[in-house]
Amino acid sequence: MSFNKYMLNKINERHESGLYRELSIYPTSSVDFSSNDYLGIAKSNSTGSTGSRLISGNSKKIVNLENTFSKLVGSEASLFFSSGYQANVGLIPALSDRDTVIFYDELIHASLRDGIRLSLASSFSFRHNDLGHLESRLSNSNGKKIIIAEAVYSMDGDSPCVDSLIDLCNRYGAELIIDEAHSFGISGVKGLGLVADKQLSSQILATVYPLGKAVGSSGCFIAGSKILREYLINFCRSFIYSTAPSLSIVKEVGSQLNELIFLENRNKVIENKNYFLERIKAKNILTGQNSAIVSVQYGDSKSLKNIESLLFDNGIVVKAILYPTVAKGTERLRICFHTFNSKKEIDLLLNILNQDN
Ligand SMILES: Cc1ncc(COP(=O)(O)O)c(C=O)c1O
Repeated sequence: MSFNKYMLNKINERHESGLYRELSIYPTSSVDFSSNDYLGIAKSNSTGSTGSRLISGNSKKIVNLENTFSKLVGSEASLFFSSGYQANVGLIPALSDRDTVIFYDELIHASLRDGIRLSLASSFSFRHNDLGHLESRLSNSNGKKIIIAEAVYSMDGDSPCVDSLIDLCNRYGAELIIDEAHSFGISGVKGLGLVADKQLSSQILATVYPLGKAVGSSGCFIAGSKILREYLINFCRSFIYSTAPSLSIVKEVGSQLNELIFLENRNKVIENKNYFLERIKAKNILTGQNSAIVSVQYGDSKSLKNIESLLFDNGIVVKAILYPTVAKGTERLRICFHTFNSKKEIDLLLNILNQDN
């Protein structure tokens, strides 16, 4: 059974049992005996959402933000969450039952892994970006299949070929979830991530857009079909049982998304990264062309910690990423480039890193 059919059946069951949930917007003049704003502080400051979206936390502003975002990334619909973690730990269990099999890249983010752990699905990892390995896994399994990948991996800075993932989905009757946390704002011609860049949204079950990275805010959109949105409103526990994002966040996200769309110096991120890559002497470098992230791997944690402190003593903050965040033997300095990093700053970083080489 396709996921669309599965979701529609479950939605119909809710209708038939009288348990169907939908979001309402009440007139501001209505008398409030439902919100959790017990002391009226949210009301007097026009800030807090006062409850979950299904009780008192929905508003025209949040729905408009979702519609604007859907148009921006070319999806039919989207649903806003308070964080990427909350979105991922809700999305995956909501879509999975005991008949679901999840195939995930071994380097996916902890929030996606936790979503898998919370689900009833069985799950298998495949070697990082190894689509041959993924295919061999897919060909050996039955059930409702979901593939989970990221558009840019947060530690290695590289990307999968999304077209090939979609091709595998089509050939093996699987559906795809892609997390665009580190690609949104950076990758693609307009900086809207890999899915929007190639207008692939209609071929992907859910695309996750956490906003704490290039948007510089917080919150997260899950973009997909109208059916997916309706389904999540009914079945996604982290959406249903949590206070809606506050109106201040909705406002901030709206204005910072607008800023991102019209930003003229976005390319500076990749320019800065390339300037660094052309000059760094170390050989054990991980990155990808779509990302702002470069990892420099060190053989052992001790020399890695030494270089981290040396950089800090010179006024540079770069974090050493240790086991268990990354696998043993792949400990690294994770360097994130920004539009605002100057050549002088990059030269200082290079001088220190190149000292040993
Ligand atoms: C790929 C990915 N997904 C999800 C998240 C979680 O997003 P948030 O910080 O909004 O909870 C992160 C955060 O680091 C991430 O890197």
